Amino acid sequence: MKKIIVTKKLPFDIEDSFKNYDLIYNKSSEPLSEDELQRELYDADAVISMLSDKINAKMLENAGNLKVVANYAVGFNNIDIDYCSEKNIVVCNTPHVLTEATAELGFALLISAARRIVEADKFVRQGKFKGWEPTLFLGHGLQNKTLGIYGFGKIGQTLGNFARNFKMNVIYNSRSRKRHEEKLIDAQYVTFEHLLDKSDFLVVTAPLNTSTKHRFTKNEFEKMRSSSVFINLGRGEIVRESDLAEALENGEITYAGLDVYEFEPSVNKKLLNMDNVILLPHIGSATVTARKEMAKLCIKSVKKVLEKNNVPWNAVN
Ligand code: DGY
Repeated sequence: MKKIIVTKKLPFDIEDSFKNYDLIYNKSSEPLSEDELQRELYDADAVISMLSDKINAKMLENAGNLKVVANYAVGFNNIDIDYCSEKNIVVCNTPHVLTEATAELGFALLISAARRIVEADKFVRQGKFKGWEPTLFLGHGLQNKTLGIYGFGKIGQTLGNFARNFKMNVIYNSRSRKRHEEKLIDAQYVTFEHLLDKSDFLVVTAPLNTSTKHRFTKNEFEKMRSSSVFINLGRGEIVRESDLAEALENGEITYAGLDVYEFEPSVNKKLLNMDNVILLPHIGSATVTARKEMAKLCIKSVKKVLEKNNVPWNAVN
């Protein structure tokens, strides 16, 4: 019987799909420790991993049978892809099925930051609302503002499309210019410097890799508008979090919304005490539909490799 590990409980019944497998399914709320996962991987044929699992060379050094890693996320920076390729291990992710969910969350952060929704909610709960005031919680509208998108994959493009419906101007910067996609939503490709200079709202949707790591540090925040809002939906390590906290403190930018953190799950202490930042617990893809589709895609990918000896369309190596 082939052995498959699922490292965390999924919001979808997967047991039926793996009836004919030796399924090691971690249904506890605690993650498997690195040692436990390494031990289980020893004779496993497949693993459905989470973005919080570090699937590196050390973790895989004794995993002699492993044929496929299906990562329950679109990002796969938690996996040593080169090592997997060297060992002929197929790595898959879950693209497309979480695009809308993640872009919607990005837009929710954007509007919440613009209109100070979280601060205003706290104000009411604290019994501070004493009546309508012309000056109470003044925020900013989106119309005619410029949305800058860093990383123009499916999530960035979908977010850009939402923004066009709110009558925003959309500019973007990414590794390469995407002429066809930019035309579809009337977005404009700009240099990174231009993006920093002109964005009223700057949203990061890029993946983490060697060229995006710490792309946003003190130097970049200093070049942004003091009225600008910074949103990160990509990966925490794209931003030096202590520099972001300082930029917010010093008024180099005005507001931030984060779904991901440099040292996830821990969050910079300064940020935790600031009112002008919204902090979410990495819930970009957390809709019932998206998470269900992600599970189905992982199951399909594993079976394609183990039962058909084929490389799935969503393989990343
Ligand atoms: C992913 O799946 O990589 C994203 O972080 C969604 O939240």
